[in-house]
Amino acid sequence: MTASIYYFSGTGNSMYIARKLAKLTHADLLSIKDAVNEDEIVLAADFVGIVFPVYNHRVPYIVKRFVDRLSNLNSKYVFAICTYGDSPCIALEYLSKLFSARGGKLSCGFGVKMPYNYIAPLPGINGLFQPFVLRELPDEQQRKMLSEADQKLQTIYDAICAQKSGYIEIEYRRLEQFVDFFNLRELLQKPVWLKISGYSGKCDLSYMESVQLMDAGFHYDEQCVRCGTCAKICPVGNVKMSVNGPVWLHQCEQCFACLQWCPKAAIQFRSGTAGRKRYHHPEVSLADMLSYPMKEKFEDE
Ligand SMILES: Cc1cc2nc3c(=O)[nH]c(=O)nc-3n(C[C@H](O)[C@H](O)[C@H](O)COP(=O)(O)O)c2cc1C
Ligand code: SF4
Ligand code: SF4
Repeated sequence: MTASIYYFSGTGNSMYIARKLAKLTHADLLSIKDAVNEDEIVLAADFVGIVFPVYNHRVPYIVKRFVDRLSNLNSKYVFAICTYGDSPCIALEYLSKLFSARGGKLSCGFGVKMPYNYIAPLPGINGLFQPFVLRELPDEQQRKMLSEADQKLQTIYDAICAQKSGYIEIEYRRLEQFVDFFNLRELLQKPVWLKISGYSGKCDLSYMESVQLMDAGFHYDEQCVRCGTCAKICPVGNVKMSVNGPVWLHQCEQCFACLQWCPKAAIQFRSGTAGRKRYHHPEVSLADMLSYPMKEKFEDE
């Protein structure tokens, strides 16, 4: 049986999970950011995994584009894992519907709680959500959370080895049901988050697509040493280096890789990020992110 695990990751949580599972299942580890550049992505393996972070209660826009390009979906065991900071929300159900629309089936979907990597662009919002989600975890709590994630991964491994089917993890909270029922994501959340993120123009894109413009509030400060890491780490080439420092091109995925991996913490999101701790998964290095490991590498170990 052939196996492939595709992943998308900004700060390493999803990469860590995908890499570990790929080792355990002897799967090829493949990056969604590379695959998505093809017009058609033919699923060749019999056993396919997709690992990604939850964004705005759904999947990242790049993951939607990836699934929209998939072909050869029939008679495969396909599972997905979302990593999340607060709740798996309905990300996996959303993914399952994308699969159905392509004539395929998502066999199983699991969530893994991991440190929250989003920092809001305004200090007031960070303050408001601090007690619940947007908190900087003390080291001990972070270690505990990551160890619980490892335990969950073991459960997931057992389930996918048994080719468990028909299980999709969701948590559809009342407030979110209300928001969806009245289409408030598009009518309210989209314009509000665009504004908060620093974008003030017109936008006809859907909420999911509109994240591309939410880099409007990114800027660099005097700590920037023009090392170019932000340009290298961006999964979609949305950061270009100018003679002075980085420039954002408004094709953003909001993955936070540029901001979180900058070695000088010089990238700010409006006024919300100055002085706040940066995060990436402690067992994923910048080198790992830049050159994702392939099957061959695991076999050498
Ligand atoms: C733009 C953005 C939106 C997010 N939205 C959610 C969300 O709706 N619910 C949630 O629980 N976590 C959310 N998160 C947190 C991430 O899902 C979580 O930290 C994830 O593990 C990050 O994975 P990565 O390190 O592989 O990028 C969001 C993060 C970002 C950057
Ligand atoms: S990663 Fe940070 S220090 Fe390096 S160029 Fe980008 S902003 Fe400047
Ligand atoms: S610009 Fe930054 S946040 Fe946007 S996609 Fe690139 S790395 Fe991610």
